[in-house]
Amino acid sequence: MNETLRTIANRYACRSYDNRLPEKEKLEAIALAAVQAPSALNRQPWQVVVITDKSFIEEMDAEGMRLLAEAEDQSTYERFMSRGGTLYYNAPCMFLVFKKPGTDMDSGIVSANISLAATSLGLGSVICAMAALPFTGSKGDSFKKKIGLPDGWEFGISVLVGYPIGTGTPHEPDTTKIRFIE
Ligand SMILES: Cc1cc2nc3c(=O)[nH]c(=O)nc-3n(C[C@H](O)[C@H](O)[C@H](O)COP(=O)(O)O)c2cc1C
Repeated sequence: MNETLRTIANRYACRSYDNRLPEKEKLEAIALAAVQAPSALNRQPWQVVVITDKSFIEEMDAEGMRLLAEAEDQSTYERFMSRGGTLYYNAPCMFLVFKKPGTDMDSGIVSANISLAATSLGLGSVICAMAALPFTGSKGDSFKKKIGLPDGWEFGISVLVGYPIGTGTPHEPDTTKIRFIE
């Protein structure tokens, strides 16, 4: 196995972080990997925002949890309460990927690049769709303003990144989902 395949095999959804902020050089390398993603017609329909402002991440976390607590269906709220009561697992860094409408596939690939780059640098990561939540509530516009998001861009996906507590186990790949026609 080469280094790239080892990185892919070792990646797992990390949901427990210590409070060390990853080195700036690592975050810059991950951000570069993000925008090196392929895109349809090379349109690069994304903006990548790297947030390391702890109080901002905590504010979005609290707003997201508040919205979940108010939701009619309590199952998601209960799931996150059982995981420690945070949406973002105290991750010290959040990569937010904003997209042009209709380009979900492109931002998905960006998130994979971010997650794999983080793994390759000894960091934990988890792709996090839940980061959309704070942008849907009454504070959404103020969060967008703080981020400096121009009109016409919408939330795509996010990836939480940091030093993991402990070691996680990658999921068992289901090779029955692979078929060759030869
Ligand atoms: C599009 C997408 C959205 C996800 N959103 C969340 C999320 O909001 N919160 C979370 O804890 N994990 C999230 N995950 C992580 C998945 O739960 C995780 O990848 C899956 O359980 C497989 O585990 P693994 O990543 O360890 O292989 C997301 C993954 C993807 C691909």
